[in-house]
Amino acid sequence: MKKYLFLLGLLIVFITACALWVVKGNNDTPLRILAQRNHLYIGAAVNGWYLTDPYYANTLTREFNIITPENAMKFGPLSPAQGEYNFTEADAIVNFAIENDMPVRGHVLVWTNQLPDWLLDRQWTRDELIEILRNHIFTVVGRYRGKIMAWDVVNETIADDGTLADNFWTNGIGPDYIEMAFRWAHEADPEALLFYNDFNAEGAGPKSDGVYGLVADLVQNGVPIHGVGFEMHTTIDWNVDPTIMAANMERLEALGLEVHITEMDVRIPSPVEPAALERQAEIYRTVMRACLEAANCTTFIMWGVSDAHSWIPWVYPGWGSATILDEEYQPKPAYWAIHTLLK
Ligand code: G3I
Repeated sequence: MKKYLFLLGLLIVFITACALWVVKGNNDTPLRILAQRNHLYIGAAVNGWYLTDPYYANTLTREFNIITPENAMKFGPLSPAQGEYNFTEADAIVNFAIENDMPVRGHVLVWTNQLPDWLLDRQWTRDELIEILRNHIFTVVGRYRGKIMAWDVVNETIADDGTLADNFWTNGIGPDYIEMAFRWAHEADPEALLFYNDFNAEGAGPKSDGVYGLVADLVQNGVPIHGVGFEMHTTIDWNVDPTIMAANMERLEALGLEVHITEMDVRIPSPVEPAALERQAEIYRTVMRACLEAANCTTFIMWGVSDAHSWIPWVYPGWGSATILDEEYQPKPAYWAIHTLLK
């Protein structure tokens, strides 16, 4: 009898351990699986030319369940000459995503950076610019109609003081371009979610109030907008109070808007010290927690698959190590911080 009780006990322990393993995941469980259990999209910005590298592609499909093109869908890279488009890289990304059951966040339809030379090299009338923008949006959104989960329609058009930034489109068309862009994007793909995307908008202050004011006006005017992207390019000195970030997400939710974390990375000065990696992990954990706790935060995207392909060292010499995987694609403390939280 004792023997049977002992065996039964062993069986119960074994079944409980298996159940816990299945429910909670273990250290080998990729982020993708853990994120799905949390009803969260977790992703990375990708370069279409690297998708043929098996290491890159396997990491992407193992760890992430959504992707966004880092540069391939911007106006300049897409359109070498007026009226001409080269969709090779963008198509590669969209096809890869479809094959691997990953939605795509389209980035970005209207931005003042990475515009084509042909557009910058001469003067245009307001009407000409409106026509160019309209054609661009219908061409790009139309091509991928039904294949893009969400578009960043307008990017970074609020200045640090909360006013409308002085940029190519504001100067050429005026503030109306924002509303026009959202309406055209919606017409071209009524199913796609449409976002306004910006940096330094997650905390308190004039910039986040400016972003809030802009999207609140759009909502009030019946413009089709569905969310706000918080880019989250930070340094290890980032110290926004999570309760303020939560309040910011809540006031957007009150407008009926989603929030996506769209471009997160946390750059570290060289040489990289262990304490800096821990601080970086803390920042990723804080932002992921804020997203998980917010009812309207559904997507968490990082700007690069690994440190081997991050934009940071090019733009901020002396800084790097900004993603959650190192140059050999090995998990860093930030990876485990997110992993543990999702578990
Ligand atoms: O592909 C060309 C190459 O042919 C050329 O020889 C080389 C020489 O400069 O440039 C290459 O293009 C570069 C491109 O990245 C691809 O590597 C551009 O110069 C460079 O400006 C471009 O930088 C991109 C940057 O946006 C442009 O502002 C970064 O990769 C990209 O990560 C970054 O992403 C932005 C988001 O779209 C919006 N939010 C901020 C974020 C960081 O700036």
